[in-house]
Amino acid sequence: MHARSTDFGRLIVGTKPELFQHSLELGLAARAQTERSRFLWALTGGGTPKEWYQWLVSEKKLSAAEAASIEWTVSDERHVLLNSPESNFGNAERQLLEPLNVPTDRRHPWMVAWPVAEAAEAYRKTMLILAGPGRTYDVCFLGMGDDCHTASLFPGTPLLLDDGGLPFGGQEVPGKGWRLTITPTGLRQCGLIVVMTLGAGKADALHRVMRGPYDPVNVPSQILKTCAERVVWLVDEAAAAKL
Ligand code: 6PG
Repeated sequence: MHARSTDFGRLIVGTKPELFQHSLELGLAARAQTERSRFLWALTGGGTPKEWYQWLVSEKKLSAAEAASIEWTVSDERHVLLNSPESNFGNAERQLLEPLNVPTDRRHPWMVAWPVAEAAEAYRKTMLILAGPGRTYDVCFLGMGDDCHTASLFPGTPLLLDDGGLPFGGQEVPGKGWRLTITPTGLRQCGLIVVMTLGAGKADALHRVMRGPYDPVNVPSQILKTCAERVVWLVDEAAAAKL
């Protein structure tokens, strides 16, 4: 692996197994360093986390005791029930938390049975109790879409213009349904942010983020510039090809 600094955070380039291992190590190192009694780790959606869960479980990379010492959630969610294959937290439960027997009181899904605005507000209150004021996740995992979205912050989304100073929100994303998501304010309140993005399909998007004009409303992942000192990008050579 090799690393360099960018305006958007530390960029680490490596192979998929190296990046999978490093993302785990980053999370566990943050866990080990914290003096807080609760440690909040937000997973994310997309294809990369699903592969990562399989790798963690099949290679026995995370022990049940380690997993049980962490409060688990997801940084964004579709407004669907947990048993839907579309549910980010549902997938995390099925592929990671259940295989590792993580106690149910360590699992913190979004309240998807409620209307979106109430669901976002209820989640905000739960996170306030778990993390304390002015803080969201200790570790926030993110991915990036080929349109440069991250979490459920898509190009043009109103939350990128004004999130009302709230760390979590909900909105309808044209063509994608209702989404619940950490906001730009919420991202700035995270301890560590790890963005894992892999494959040639992400090369143009990564180039737009790191080399293009600063325009976070249309290039949402650029919002990470506002908290770059706490952001680590984990990318493979294919994704980094145009940097
Ligand atoms: C989701 C996400 C989304 C995801 C990216 C990248 O719920 O789908 O949170 O932001 O991280 O689309 O997904 P891949 O891992 O498939 O590249």
